[in-house]
Amino acid sequence: MSALALENVTYTYKNALKSAVSGVTYTFEEGKVYAVVGPSGSGKSTLLSLLAGLDLPTEGEVSFDGKSLAGLDLDRYRRESISMIFQAFHLFPLLTVMENVCFPMELCGITPKDARPRAANLLEGVGITKEQMNRFPSKLSGGERQRVAIARSLASNAKILLGDEPTGNLDSANTQNIIEILASLAHEKGYCVIIVTHDSEVAEAADVALRMRDGELRQL
Ligand SMILES: Nc1ncnc2c1ncn2[C@@H]1O[C@H](COP(=O)(O)OP(=O)(O)O)[C@@H](O)[C@H]1O
Ligand SMILES: [Mg+2]
Repeated sequence: MSALALENVTYTYKNALKSAVSGVTYTFEEGKVYAVVGPSGSGKSTLLSLLAGLDLPTEGEVSFDGKSLAGLDLDRYRRESISMIFQAFHLFPLLTVMENVCFPMELCGITPKDARPRAANLLEGVGITKEQMNRFPSKLSGGERQRVAIARSLASNAKILLGDEPTGNLDSANTQNIIEILASLAHEKGYCVIIVTHDSEVAEAADVALRMRDGELRQL
């Protein structure tokens, strides 16, 4: 099933001489991991912000489940339909691991009593122990923090997972572990996982590897 489709998408920053994203037509499907590689400045982050609904294309259309983002409530789209994971993890330092994962659920109106078992389940799913759940993020390794960030991103029911260099701060063993988690989310739970990466290990393990060059997207 098509999750996110781009139709002839171009994005030009104000006053820029050339487009950051140029004439991209591509369909991302559920159940697959996509890796987008490409040199710095080739338009990867701009592409991700268009998929995340942070910007609308200057020309062309991005659609989610067949509906143009231009016609959707974008705040709601970002809250309910997509999740993001980042290189720097972006965990809240003054909340415990458990509280970090409960927080977005409580924002969506789930009571703390219902949120905790669900958060524990998500954390167990990425290999975080009960004891680690009560620690602050500063007391975890980088790989463990990224697994907590993934668990938190799964707290909503969004089926699209966007990552900007999610393994950028991790060593090879932790990168492999994160790749396995993302692959099982795609293959077993039907997520559409789209990762921007410099990491050839990630690109090789993805179901589909794509390259951005001068704003254009090509399948490798
Ligand atoms: N806010 C901005 N204003 C103007 N130009 C920008 C802005 N952000 C990025 N660009 C330009 O758009 C192009 C693509 O950038 P970006 O999407 O960040 O590439 P990447 O993530 O692949 O490094 C680059 O030429 C960059 O200089
Ligand atoms: Mg970038």
